[in-house]
Amino acid sequence: FKKTLQNDLIIPSWHQFCCQIKSIYEFCKPVTQGKVADYIPQLSRFDPNLWGVAICSVDGQRAAWGDAKKPFCVQSVSKAFNYAIAASERGADYVHQFVGQEPSGRLFNEICLDPHNKPHNPMINSGAIIVTTLIQNKLDMADRFDYILNYYKKISGGEFIGFNNAVFLSERSTADRNFALSYYMKELGCFPKETTNLTEALDFYFQLCSVEATCESLAVMAATLANGGVCPITEERCIDSRPCRDVLTLMNSCGMYDYSGQFSFHVGLPAKSGVSGVVIVVIPNLCGIALWSPPLDEQGNSCRGVSFCKELINRFNFHNY
Ligand code: DON
Repeated sequence: FKKTLQNDLIIPSWHQFCCQIKSIYEFCKPVTQGKVADYIPQLSRFDPNLWGVAICSVDGQRAAWGDAKKPFCVQSVSKAFNYAIAASERGADYVHQFVGQEPSGRLFNEICLDPHNKPHNPMINSGAIIVTTLIQNKLDMADRFDYILNYYKKISGGEFIGFNNAVFLSERSTADRNFALSYYMKELGCFPKETTNLTEALDFYFQLCSVEATCESLAVMAATLANGGVCPITEERCIDSRPCRDVLTLMNSCGMYDYSGQFSFHVGLPAKSGVSGVVIVVIPNLCGIALWSPPLDEQGNSCRGVSFCKELINRFNFHNY
């Protein structure tokens, strides 16, 4: 409020900025490429025309367009926040005893490890499954789930965070690859000693993929990352500054599946996508953006989401380099 009165907000010409963002939103609307994920029926039922954009600045300035209030599952976007939470609690050194920092150059669910028998990074399934086992693993399953949901709510400044049980059940019943991946890692001793129950570990991972959010709530979560781990709405510190830096670095190099290198080249911003068609983008010290449109390209990224990011960089000088 004080910053508004003093005309000291991070984006002073908010109205003009929003006009540009709206025009990029409109520019991407006619994009018709891509295919909605169909590996589970719950995702395949989404209308390919759904398209939402929301933005939140590090000073809490907010705006949204299109289907920004409609809930969807965060899917792999959870991987970024789970890593940040695990690293905040256990420290980066401990977390990286079990998972690397390299882009894998392989599919997100591929059964492969790095030369040290570690998953390449926390943004692919193998790494994410291990990272989730590090979060509050002394609690029982119900308390762990409550804990993480409340943590997400804190990062989103109290905005909508839900859970889609049908997606969770579907994920679990079609999870042969994730089970295979986990047993392979178990055989090679990749899990921390305290992980004794793989079924529980995977259930927790599927539950976190099935957490629901909206563009509006995810924009605040992305803005918390843009703001060094402090939620811009509540001004509460949610993530320590070091894990916040670390997760942004990993999002920059590994957040967009097999397109991460090209995305980093063209857009130059940390981002994370999920198979529900969501992409979060972080412009450090400025704002968080959440994009959602279900049709995916061949790499598994939202077609409208990626074209939005490219157009954003055409119009603004936000590329980190
Ligand atoms: O583990 C799975 O198959 C999915 N629920 C992961 C979702 C996703 O967005 C892919 N990410 N890397």
